[in-house]
Amino acid sequence: MINSKNLKDIKDQILNCDKCSLRKLRDESKYFPVVGQGNHNAEIMFIGEAPGLNEAKTGIPFCGASGRILDELLKYVGIKREDVYVTNILKDRPPDNRDPEASEIEVCLPYLKEQIRIIKPKVICTLGRYSMGVIMQQFGLTAELDSISKIHGKEFEKDGIKILPLYHPAVAVYNGNMKETLKTDFQILKKYQK
Ligand code: URA
Repeated sequence: MINSKNLKDIKDQILNCDKCSLRKLRDESKYFPVVGQGNHNAEIMFIGEAPGLNEAKTGIPFCGASGRILDELLKYVGIKREDVYVTNILKDRPPDNRDPEASEIEVCLPYLKEQIRIIKPKVICTLGRYSMGVIMQQFGLTAELDSISKIHGKEFEKDGIKILPLYHPAVAVYNGNMKETLKTDFQILKKYQK
């Protein structure tokens, strides 16, 4: 059980966390945990899967190739990155970018839940299939869960928060059609701008 008053408390707890083996990799590789970045009162929260190499080297979420696509998509719909909050399901990089393990998600998820509780976004945009599955399950939307090709760009609502599954920006790095799909889906976010 995490007991935090604010996002700084959560950051401290993540820095000290050694509840799974990813901490060993963090220390051995001189990686940083990637806590999250952005506006603490954001209406829009993006949740990716886990830090990649660039993110683990800097501690900044989505700062590599996927991040450049995310920035481009935000710019396309006139939203500033500093107005949203960006984080991941896992705060530490899994080795060789492998999928997160269930035990890692279990120990890391309380941090994310606290971030959501404190920030109180109006909409949570899951980035990619993995984040979509975890978040929809957490919000009791398992019955609505389907393949990302069917439910991307579709808003769900639970406890006053909208959940919007989106493709992971990485899919658009080499695929222009996917970028168009992402651009269409990002238009939905315009209504959440302050
Ligand atoms: N991919 C993710 O899911 N998260 C990041 O922070 C970077 C790439």
